[in-house]
This record gives sequence, structure tokens and C-alpha cells, in this order.
Amino acid sequence: MCDRLARILLLAGLALTLAGAGRDPVWTEAEQQEFLARHWRLPLAPQGRPPARFGPLETSLHPEKCGMCHPVQFGDWKESIHAGSMGPGVAGQLVELHRTAPDQARACYTCHAPLAEQPPGQPGYDASLTPEGIVCASCHVRKWQRFGPPRRDGSLVSTTPRSRLPHNGVTRTPAFLRAEFCKDCHQFPATGYALNGKLLQDTFEEWKAGPYAARNVQCQDCHMPDRRHRWRGIHDPDMVRSALAFEVARDATGVALTITNRGAGHRVPTYVTPRIVVSGELVDAANAAIAGSRRELVIGRAVTLDLERELFDTRLAPGQAVTFTYPVASEPGRTLRLRVVVEPDHFYAGFFEALLGNGAGAGAAKIREALEASRRSAFTVFERAVPLE
Ligand code: HEC
Ligand code: HEC
Ligand code: HEC
Ligand code: HEC
Ligand code: HEC
Repeated sequence: MCDRLARILLLAGLALTLAGAGRDPVWTEAEQQEFLARHWRLPLAPQGRPPARFGPLETSLHPEKCGMCHPVQFGDWKESIHAGSMGPGVAGQLVELHRTAPDQARACYTCHAPLAEQPPGQPGYDASLTPEGIVCASCHVRKWQRFGPPRRDGSLVSTTPRSRLPHNGVTRTPAFLRAEFCKDCHQFPATGYALNGKLLQDTFEEWKAGPYAARNVQCQDCHMPDRRHRWRGIHDPDMVRSALAFEVARDATGVALTITNRGAGHRVPTYVTPRIVVSGELVDAANAAIAGSRRELVIGRAVTLDLERELFDTRLAPGQAVTFTYPVASEPGRTLRLRVVVEPDHFYAGFFEALLGNGAGAGAAKIREALEASRRSAFTVFERAVPLE
């Protein structure tokens, strides 16, 4: 009996030693930074020739092929803005840019369709991959090797030898869980285009300077909760509601609506393209608006269509609040209608309109489609009727 117990203990000890020998590799801070720099060296290098043992499913860069084995991520991704990143607004401009400014066209692909196989004229070019936008492989495949986050239990290696797993398994790194992973497409470099001393795209730095970075809340924690691949943002009413708190107060001088950025890890909005229109308007008993009574406040960073000038910047940093005041306290028979409307594509609506006016060339039909879509995307996030009797 004792002998058996000793042997079991010995075996258990041996198993522990073996597990120790195959312990997860450690990714030091320097190794993670190195990984990120290599992974996001843009423009991306071609995948090259796939390993000989790969079957047809594994040698495809098409998201629907990944989706055969990863249906949850595919289902989410398909509905996301990343999947739509080669929509008519981008594609319509590219038609003309390919002709007039090929270098500029190439630059658009680095963020909107970043695989080397997506822009025309590259080795391995696959025309059917171009309209698919930011595909799974943009973030997960380099030289046919799969990269991904640690398993949910934190482990980095699989118990099955990699050579026995589909696509030779996965190289797992905690770098996938960091805000830096999103940075190369959502942050201009320090030398990038700036207006009024502020970069045109500054989301990562806004996050880094704010309270969320300090509390170790990464982009993924808010935009990929439970590892979902939805990336909801300013186009999603529930996401915007989670960003903003609304509070109505009333006193002898009027009605005040205070809006606070309580849930976005950066400015609301972070880009120059959306705007949020706060308005107050008197309505009569039949709910008809009283002419001339409308007042507005715009939250956003307004720039001219040629991007030459910033007109104003009223975006809300994390925790920051703004108060809209309607200076009427009482008006018998009237009701004050407060409303907050989000226009996620405000800048683009004006931009596409101007582009069509100047002649969008062969891309005109697509630009017209994009203009319609940008006008349709507005929605109301808050509405309140305040009786003023
Ligand atoms: C034939 C089925 C199959 C196909 C096709 C496939 N995968 Fe996988 N993938 C797997 C399996 C099985 C695993 C689990 C490997 C392991 O246990 O380490 C996996 C793991 C992964 C992981 C790590 C997931 C985790 O659990 O943390 C990523 C990321 C990944 N695959 C990306 C892709 C991408 C991107 C594509 C398409 C370019 C793709 N896969 C195509 C079967 C597949
Ligand atoms: C550094 C990365 C980056 C580059 C390079 C880039 N974009 Fe974008 N683009 C974005 C991001 C992020 C958004 C979403 C935020 C926004 O609307 O500003 C976007 C949004 C857009 C949109 C609005 C959304 C849509 O699908 O209609 C258009 C149009 C667009 N880009 C066109 C272009 C064109 C044309 C180029 C090349 C001249 C280009 N972009 C280069 C990152 C980039
Ligand atoms: C913009 C980059 C990006 C794209 C595009 C993308 N992923 Fe991911 N993926 C990530 C990141 C980042 C994580 C880790 C997220 C986290 O843990 O917070 C991840 C995690 C995963 C995982 C692990 C999920 C889990 O539950 O452990 C799988 C599998 C995966 N991705 C497959 C895919 C597939 C398939 C597609 C395309 C349909 C895809 N990804 C598109 C960035 C991306
Ligand atoms: C390869 C470049 C690239 C990478 C990497 C990338 N994005 Fe994006 N992202 C874009 C572009 C381009 C758009 C705009 C697409 C469009 O509208 O045409 C976008 C759009 C978004 C949106 C939607 C905004 C809206 O308008 O509602 C969110 C949220 C987002 N990205 C978050 C992330 C997060 C989080 C990560 C990191 C896990 C990430 N992105 C990584 C290029 C990228
Ligand atoms: C604390 C949660 C949180 C964190 C952290 C966070 N975001 Fe957001 N993000 C939001 C919310 C909520 C919205 C919707 C409101 C808005 O548009 O600002 C949003 C909107 C966006 C948008 C839509 C465009 C726009 O003009 O607002 C993009 C793109 C985006 N986030 C990217 C990122 C990136 C990249 C990071 C990391 C550097 C990040 N976010 C970190 C919560 C977060």
C-alpha cells in the first residue's frame, strides 16, 4: 500500500516536473513591444507560400473559411465596422485615386484592407479579398502563422503538439490584450497630420492620458468584451448610451441638461467626423414646434472639408461634462423638448456631397451610395419633454 502511494507520488512529481519543463513561455515587456512592432510593420509583407501540409481551408485568407471553424468570431466580425471598412465611401474614392495618385491609394489600404494580398498589383493579389476589408488574417496571420491571445485560462501553450493542430496551432501572446495592438490604425504618429496643434487621429494618446489606462482598462475591454468581435462604437446607440450620462435640472432661470462622458476611454467623440447635436425647442399642446425657439449645442471637433482649419473643439474628455441651458423657466401651455442626436458620419456627408459636386469621376455611383448611408446613420440617444407651465 505504502509502496503504491510512494509510486503515485513519484509519478505525480514527475508529471509536475514535465509540466514545469513545458511551462508557458514568458513574454517580457520588451518581447511584447518587439512583437507589436514586427506584427504591425505596415504595409504588411505578403504571406508567401503556405506550409505544404496545409489543406485548402487552412491556406485561405478569406474570413468565411476561418469561420468554418471559428463561427462565433466570424458571425460578429461580419456585422462589424471592420468588415465594412472597404465600403462605398472608401472604394468610391479609390477608383479615382488609383488613376490620379497611386501612392495615396496605397496608403488607404494600410488601414482599410491591410493584407499585402488586398491592393491590386501586389504579388499574391486576390481581388475577391479586397472588398472584405479588415479580415481576420489582418490581425491574426503573418507568413501563414496564426497569432492570438493567451487562452482564457491564461495559458500560452496547448497540450496537443502544434503539428497535430489545424494551421499548426497558434502562437499566443498577451500583446493581443493591449491597447497598443489597436494603435497603428487608430493613432497618427507624432509627426502625422495635425490641426491647431492636435493630431487628426489621436485616440490611443487620449486613452493613455486618461483614467482608463491608469486603471489598466484596455481598448479591448470596452470594444471586445468577452472577446466578442463586434467593435461597437459611435454608430451603435447602446454603445453611445454607455458613454454618456444625462441629467436634467430646473431652476428659476431655466432648464439645464448636463451631459457627462462617463464611459468612453477617450474623447467623445474621438474623431473629427461624428458630431452630437444637443437641442432644446418649445412645442405647443399639439406637440408642434414653436418657430424660432430652437437652440443648439454641438459636441464634436469641427474641421473644414479641406481639413485646413479647425473651427471648434467641444469634445468631452473622460469624466468631463458640458451643460446645455435653455433660459426659459416658465411658459404656460408650452413644453420644452430636449433632444440629443448623434450623427456618426456628419463630416463625411458634407465631404461626399462636395466630392460629387466637384465630379467624383468613375467612383461617383459608389460615392452617391456612401452619401445616402452617411445621411441615414443619425439616431436619437436622449429625449425628454419638460412641461413649462
Ligand atoms: C480547420 C479548422 C480551422 C480553420 C479553417 C481555422 N482555424 Fe483557427 N483554430 C482551429 C483550432 C482547432 C484552434 C485551437 C488550437 C489550439 O488549441 O491551440 C484554432 C485556434 C485559433 C486561434 C486561437 C484561438 C484561441 O482559442 O485562443 C486563432 C486566433 C485562430 N485559430 C485564427 C484563425 C484564423 C484567422 C483563421 C483563418 C485565416 C483560422 N483560424 C482558420 C481551427 C481552425
Ligand atoms: C491610419 C489609418 C487610416 C488610413 C491610412 C486611412 N484611413 Fe480612412 N479611416 C480610418 C479610421 C480609423 C476610420 C474611422 C473613423 C473615422 O470615421 O474617422 C476611417 C474612416 C474612413 C471613411 C469613412 C467610413 C467609410 O467607410 O465610409 C472613409 C470614406 C475613409 N476612411 C477613406 C479613406 C481614404 C480614401 C484613405 C486614403 C486616402 C484613408 N481613409 C486612409 C483610418 C485610416
Ligand atoms: C482588428 C483585429 C482583429 C480582427 C480583424 C479579428 N480579430 Fe480575432 N482577436 C483579436 C484580438 C485583439 C483578440 C483578443 C481579444 C481579447 O482577449 O480581449 C482576438 C481573439 C480571437 C480568438 C480567441 C477567442 C477566445 O474566445 O479565446 C479567436 C478564435 C479569433 N480572435 C478569431 C478571429 C476570426 C476567425 C476573425 C475573423 C472572422 C478575427 N478573429 C478577426 C483581434 C482581431
Ligand atoms: C488594420 C487597421 C485596424 C486595426 C488593427 C484596428 N482597427 Fe479599428 N478600425 C479601422 C478602420 C479603418 C475603421 C473604420 C472603418 C470604416 O468605417 O470604414 C475602424 C473602426 C473601428 C471602430 C468603429 C468606430 C465606429 O465608427 O463606430 C472601433 C470601435 C474600432 N475600430 C476599435 C478597434 C479596436 C479596439 C482595435 C484593436 C483590438 C482595432 N480597432 C484595431 C482600422 C483598424
Ligand atoms: C472605458 C471604455 C472604452 C475604452 C477603454 C476605449 N473606448 Fe473607444 N469607445 C467607447 C465608447 C463607449 C464609445 C462610443 C462613444 C464615442 O464614440 O465616443 C467609443 C467609441 C470609439 C470609436 C468610435 C469613433 C468616435 O469618433 O468616437 C473608436 C474608433 C474607438 N472608440 C476606438 C478605441 C480605441 C482604439 C481604444 C484604445 C486606445 C478605445 N476606443 C478605448 C469606450 C471605450
